[in-house]
Amino acid sequence: MSAIRQSHNTRHIFASFLQNCQGARPLLLFPFTICIAMLALMKGSPKPAPRRSNPAAKLAGSIAARLDQPVVLVGLMGSGKSAVGRRAAKQLGIGFKDSDQLIVKAAGISIAEIFELAGEVKFREMERKTLGNLALASPQIIATGGGAFCQKDTADLLLQHTLTIWLKASPATLLSRIGNTKTRPLLHNGDPLATLTRLDEQRARFYKKAHIHLDTDGLSTYTAMMALFHALDTHLPRQ
Ligand code: S3P
Repeated sequence: MSAIRQSHNTRHIFASFLQNCQGARPLLLFPFTICIAMLALMKGSPKPAPRRSNPAAKLAGSIAARLDQPVVLVGLMGSGKSAVGRRAAKQLGIGFKDSDQLIVKAAGISIAEIFELAGEVKFREMERKTLGNLALASPQIIATGGGAFCQKDTADLLLQHTLTIWLKASPATLLSRIGNTKTRPLLHNGDPLATLTRLDEQRARFYKKAHIHLDTDGLSTYTAMMALFHALDTHLPRQ
């Protein structure tokens, strides 16, 4: 009985407290409202993410604006002509063409099959025609087959109409990048490292004629692309 009365009393006291507070309610709510507003503000305006500078994009923009002819990558198999060329073209916002791929598409058979069925001389002829067409096209990146620049007609054509870049690398690096040698007919017989070393010695005098020389040993595709961009940036006249 006394417990019931006590609870009754408590309710009575609480009710009269609320009644007394009626006038002061806005004052009581004020700090609460401020807290809610501050929380909403913090949520609504997250800290701006720190701006990451993109050195590749900055350089690429300047290069693309100054490029007025195709850029042709030459060098031995595995030097990164296709991998670096494709990535650089994407970053520059221009086209990318691989002469070997175009030949395969036109012939309907693989490079190894062209060598086997029609012979290397026929392949070189197809290569010269393909690159002859590409050399006169709009600014884009072109990856050549490793032997293309060693054919006088093809090299003269490319030197006259395009900006040629020799991607250099040691034979050991080339072999590690090539991986599967099955797609490279010139590496089908004998020790591939010995063949690459011999080709490197035989072909360096042709590749040396390229407008720009770039050592890609120890470089990833991205760092080789950046080295290519720096070389182009230095080579191309400022507007
Ligand atoms: C060749 C290189 C190959 C291809 C063909 C002949 C060469 O191209 O054109 O197998 O003579 O060095 P990659 O350099 O793209 O492998």
